[in-house]
Amino acid sequence: MDAPLLRLAEQFETPFYAYDLAEVKRRTQELRESLPEGARLLHSFKANPLPSIAEKIRLEGGTAEITSEGELQAARLAGHDMREALYGGPGKTVSEITSAMAAGVRWFSCESWRDLERISAVASLRAADAQILLRVNPAEAPQARLAMTGVESQFGFDESLLLAAGAREKLQLPHVKIRGIHVYFGTQVASVEALTQNTQRAIETAERLEKALGFVCSVVNAGGGFPWPYANQGSPPDLQGLRGALTAVWEASPLHETAELWFEAGRYLCASAGTLVSRVLDVKPSRSRTFVVLDTGIHHLGGMAGLGRIPRSSVTFQNLSRQSENEVTADIVGPLCTPLDSLARGLKMPDVAAGDLLAVPNVGAYGLTASLIGFLSHPAPAEIAYLDGEVVQVWQWRTGHQQLQS
Ligand SMILES: Cc1ncc(COP(=O)(O)O)c(C=O)c1O
Repeated sequence: MDAPLLRLAEQFETPFYAYDLAEVKRRTQELRESLPEGARLLHSFKANPLPSIAEKIRLEGGTAEITSEGELQAARLAGHDMREALYGGPGKTVSEITSAMAAGVRWFSCESWRDLERISAVASLRAADAQILLRVNPAEAPQARLAMTGVESQFGFDESLLLAAGAREKLQLPHVKIRGIHVYFGTQVASVEALTQNTQRAIETAERLEKALGFVCSVVNAGGGFPWPYANQGSPPDLQGLRGALTAVWEASPLHETAELWFEAGRYLCASAGTLVSRVLDVKPSRSRTFVVLDTGIHHLGGMAGLGRIPRSSVTFQNLSRQSENEVTADIVGPLCTPLDSLARGLKMPDVAAGDLLAVPNVGAYGLTASLIGFLSHPAPAEIAYLDGEVVQVWQWRTGHQQLQS
């Protein structure tokens, strides 16, 4: 991986994110081949909405899973047919739903009664039907590192609410058609067994709700949570046997005769493609410690403490400038004026000097998008998409104030 990155470092100022589009293609094909024949794969834009990446996934058969006007815009730039996109999120505003429908979006993941009422109101004004997946929070806890179901949560309807008396009637609103269910159990689901068990739970939830609510279920969106290492060289997951196991649970359900099975993925598709390249600005001793100061920090990587994704000692840095046998123990920090701007503490690494280029691997998902980009008003790093060593497109996230009214 070094040669293309070094060439990019000659052309572009650090810090920058470099994304290898061949890797995006490989992972998308690999995941599609690990899912049952005919299953749909959605690209969760929250992991990385860069249009170059989204376009590559689209060309490999992925459709869009979006949750904001920004992601909608990125999906359009990537050439997605918005009639196939799924729009989700627990707090959709009327204006968002209106923009989405105006852009052609018809499929919505619906998270509450009020969300359903809002979608119905906008769809009625536009005299168009919205196709609804009910996002469900099943009672049982899933197998996931960050569980988003089976616990109290702002996401989706508790399944008990949908099984309660009167629910069927509450779903009868104008211009909304209940078409299926959506369960997202959580992220970094560690094994084929756990992914299969979660999928089986989603299918069983759909079977229960179809019967209780009296709609024809044509989509089971079983989520995913397909794992990938974050910001280090950790081993990729082994998805051997997943296709067979998922196919078996799907074919065991009567729904497989009438419904489509959907999965959504972010990190698996994008993570391995992305590398953050930065330059060492300073190496400073302070008492017993050594601080390596980079031109990047938590405003570009891993600002999302809430998701448990702040990289600490598990971040690996590859020195692209030189190799050294000597080892140092260092704290890797950024340029922000806060001690929180730390990417690793007490890291053992080969000797490092000011001017060296350091690269962090596996940050194509939840790298820049999950960071504190506004904090201290530094510019966003360039995002460079390359293929076979050639630059394809270069982007930069907009930052800074824009006056709306004087
Ligand atoms: C509803 C939903 N779908 C999909 C994803 C993408 O998950 P991952 O990147 O782990 O594949 C998330 C991540 O939080 C999510 O909340």
